[in-house]
Amino acid sequence: MHIVIIGATGHVGTYLLPRLAALGHRLTALSRGKRQPYHPHGAWGLVDLQQCNRALEDSRGTFGKRIADLKPDVIIDMICFNAQSARQLVEALGGSVEHLIVCGTIWVHGPSAQVPTLESAVRHPFGDYGINKNAMEAYLLQQSRLGGVPATVIHPGHIVGPGWAPLNPQGNFNPQVYSGIAAGEELVLPNFGLETVHHVHADDVAQLFQLALERWSASASESYHAVSPAALTLRGYAEAVYGWFGQEPQLTFRPFDAWKACVSADDAAATYDHIAHSPNCSIAKAQQQLGYQPRYSSLQAVYEALDWLIAHGKVTVPGK
Ligand SMILES: NC(=O)c1ccc[n+]([C@@H]2O[C@H](COP(=O)([O-])OP(=O)(O)OC[C@H]3O[C@@H](n4cnc5c(N)ncnc54)[C@H](OP(=O)(O)O)[C@@H]3O)[C@@H](O)[C@H]2O)c1
Repeated sequence: MHIVIIGATGHVGTYLLPRLAALGHRLTALSRGKRQPYHPHGAWGLVDLQQCNRALEDSRGTFGKRIADLKPDVIIDMICFNAQSARQLVEALGGSVEHLIVCGTIWVHGPSAQVPTLESAVRHPFGDYGINKNAMEAYLLQQSRLGGVPATVIHPGHIVGPGWAPLNPQGNFNPQVYSGIAAGEELVLPNFGLETVHHVHADDVAQLFQLALERWSASASESYHAVSPAALTLRGYAEAVYGWFGQEPQLTFRPFDAWKACVSADDAAATYDHIAHSPNCSIAKAQQQLGYQPRYSSLQAVYEALDWLIAHGKVTVPGK
């Protein structure tokens, strides 16, 4: 099959393209060409890499035709962020594509009532990002069910892998939090540290995209969470990372408004966004319908990323 991947060289694409190449598919990969995949792989030599700026071409109304002109059998769209963008692509494709698989986010849910959250739960998204991704999914699945382009939406959690900083036990992306833990320093957590985060290894997200492609008849018109088998509380996450560094946990807790005075405005905003969502998503649907079997727990994924951060001097460990 000829598969076009839009936004191909990022966290997920780094793992997904080698998976698809190994299955013998012909691949066309689109990006602005500003970055390389996180890890080299021989498969990239087999890929037709093309430059494009999706946002710019969307605004000009030319993006959908550019993709249709490539005559793909399947499209994997990693960088669609709203219903208008999805509609432009779908309308340009007509009936010519077998499957459109699009990346969403678990932020489509907003705060949950019953956890682990199912894909079918009543949604309360907040913030432009979650609201727009939710509308994108609604559009894609409805047009699919009405006989348009068969579409699947994959909703990743916090994507983790070697090469970038994972969401840390304070719920933000500051890698110094890990350096402080490694040194056995005190870590202050917001509230009781019982709000949750839900990571996923980038290769497990890639696994679910591959499964959706392979199990077309099950995945068409459906959405799936791509997360690890279990979410973490901030407190449990922090305690585990202290242990990984051979340290005793040194945790203290402050109500959010007092806590945010201890960190930068950017870190406070990132933490607020994550704990206001406190995701804890179910993978039962992906397991049952597609055979999804994540290779990494949240902590295994984080530890692999930490190894990389330490090796590259981005997290410091006393004595190393
Ligand atoms: N990161 C997370 O934790 C997380 C969590 C949930 C959902 N998601 C979703 O995951 C998707 C992103 O996937 P990812 O994390 O694998 O990607 P990523 O690491 O953010 O990389 C984005 C990819 O798209 C390309 N790109 C960015 N802007 C572009 C543009 N205007 N035109 C063409 N190509 C462009 C990038 O290459 P160039 O820069 O070279 O163009 C790169 O190949 C998004 O839909 C996001 O909402 C992410």
